[in-house]
Amino acid sequence: MKKVILDCDPGHDDAFGIMLAVRHLEVLGITTIGGNCTLDKVTVNALKVLEVLERSDIPVYPGHSCPMVAPLVTAPQFHGVSGMDGPVLPEPEVQAQKKHAVDYMIETVMNTEDVTLIATGPLTNIAAAINREPRIVERVKELSIMGGSVTYGNWTPAAEFNIFVDPEAAYRVFNSGMHVKMSGVNLTRQCCLTAEHIGKFREIGTKAANLAADLTEFFLDSTVKSAALSGANMHDACAVAWIINPDLIKAADMHIDIELKGELTRGMTVCDYRHLRGTDPMVDLCRVPTMEARGKQPNAEAALELDFDGFLNLLYGTLKSYN
Ligand code: BDR
Ligand code: CA
Repeated sequence: MKKVILDCDPGHDDAFGIMLAVRHLEVLGITTIGGNCTLDKVTVNALKVLEVLERSDIPVYPGHSCPMVAPLVTAPQFHGVSGMDGPVLPEPEVQAQKKHAVDYMIETVMNTEDVTLIATGPLTNIAAAINREPRIVERVKELSIMGGSVTYGNWTPAAEFNIFVDPEAAYRVFNSGMHVKMSGVNLTRQCCLTAEHIGKFREIGTKAANLAADLTEFFLDSTVKSAALSGANMHDACAVAWIINPDLIKAADMHIDIELKGELTRGMTVCDYRHLRGTDPMVDLCRVPTMEARGKQPNAEAALELDFDGFLNLLYGTLKSYN
């Protein structure tokens, strides 16, 4: 099994990421980051999800409570006041670890071969770890993130939420030399759950499946009300699924940088795909020949196309496999 540290801000879709990761990967630890909600709340949410999955043996390390430069922006309109409204879960019996997430991340990566990092919140903890111990860049096998976009944003027309919250951290990470796999909103909008999928979760009926149903019910309702979309996008689950089964996602290498100053575009992932012959990045890029990269050499793989049926099979199988 691949060894991972999951850095997250649960978050309905982060919880789906935890459910997939815990079953199919060796999760060494979960680190938390202020994002969807404040650090204290997202940490408790991570502990609650692990309890439902009967995996409280996985340690949870709280990280940074706010971005490197900007004040924290949260997303209660999508995730509620707790950061994970909907399911009614008991207070966790197991507490979070005292060690800081960044210390844990550095120690683990420096002392363990082939650790993959998965980040489904703002990139503050990862950037801080790179700043403190730059050698982790070479040690980490790869970094799979949910964040950014090859096309449009979701928080602003140009920026996706996780990158928008801490663009300085994202800039540090994308310019560090670490191999980044980016599942941006152009990809995660293809991972769209509706009432039909909630019905299937209820049919499966395990504790994990009921949690998935309760989470999706709230998230679907908030997404319809706040973003006028017709389904709940399980953004973060995509970044995890990509590590579990790389065949689920078609991607292209490209250079990606982060806009820090733009009046309208702060937090935008500026993707250089001029070497791909397609004209419509949502449709063509992964089916067309690649030319020699122009400008800077690619520093990332950007996800373009999701095998949604394959994703659902993975998810249903996972929910069945829990109690
Ligand atoms: C990202 O923002 C958060 O609200 C979600 O958990 C996801 O990580 C989507 O833009
Ligand atoms: Ca998240």
